[in-house]
Amino acid sequence: MSLKGKHIGIALTGSFCTYEKVFQELQKLAAEEAVIQTIFSDAAQTLNSRFGKAEDFIRRAGEITGRKPMMSIPEAEPIGPGSLFDILVLFPCTGNTIAKLANGITDTPVLMAAKAHLRNNKPLLISVSTNDALGMNMKNIGLLLNTKNIYFIPFGQDNPKAKPNSMIARTELLIPSLEAALQGRQYQPILC
Ligand SMILES: Cc1cc2nc3c(=O)[nH]c(=O)nc-3n(C[C@H](O)[C@H](O)[C@H](O)COP(=O)(O)O)c2cc1C
Repeated sequence: MSLKGKHIGIALTGSFCTYEKVFQELQKLAAEEAVIQTIFSDAAQTLNSRFGKAEDFIRRAGEITGRKPMMSIPEAEPIGPGSLFDILVLFPCTGNTIAKLANGITDTPVLMAAKAHLRNNKPLLISVSTNDALGMNMKNIGLLLNTKNIYFIPFGQDNPKAKPNSMIARTELLIPSLEAALQGRQYQPILC
């Protein structure tokens, strides 16, 4: 499937250790000539860490996509009425955002984007990245796995000995996972 001209929302949440891989995949999507709009959660747009400065990530997103990121709930709200995206990807998706999404909470630009997009009966793809995936958040991941129009980039344990509850998505499978979700299918195998 060609992604040329597809309108793809990429919502970044505060899993900062994943950002290098995320930006690599954004470059690939841009090379496919997809129309990319990023959305930054409040954490993603404000927290600086050893993985980089928020303002640098915001600038890079703008440079790769050619569009200013959405940074507020009012900016993300028109995604619903305007039916702005063919697909929305939570890339990367923290445990915090997974837990809120599974429980109907809409208090960040990313969660507003997800709610607005899902009302249009279109696919939402999640890229799990959290240390509590097999702990406190397993129930929420289970709930989302069984929710209409929600798909996952294949994921697995990244460091079972040191972080036994941690799971992370295989970000390099973004494009095949997107293509499957756009056709209403979960890319398989989902566990890796
Ligand atoms: C350096 C750093 C790295 C983090 N990495 C992760 C992570 O990989 N996964 C995660 O779920 N939370 C991670 N967090 C915590 C989230 O940023 C925090 O829960 C935040 O409230 C998430 O908000 P959001 O989901 O709205 O982006 C990290 C925080 C910091 C400061």
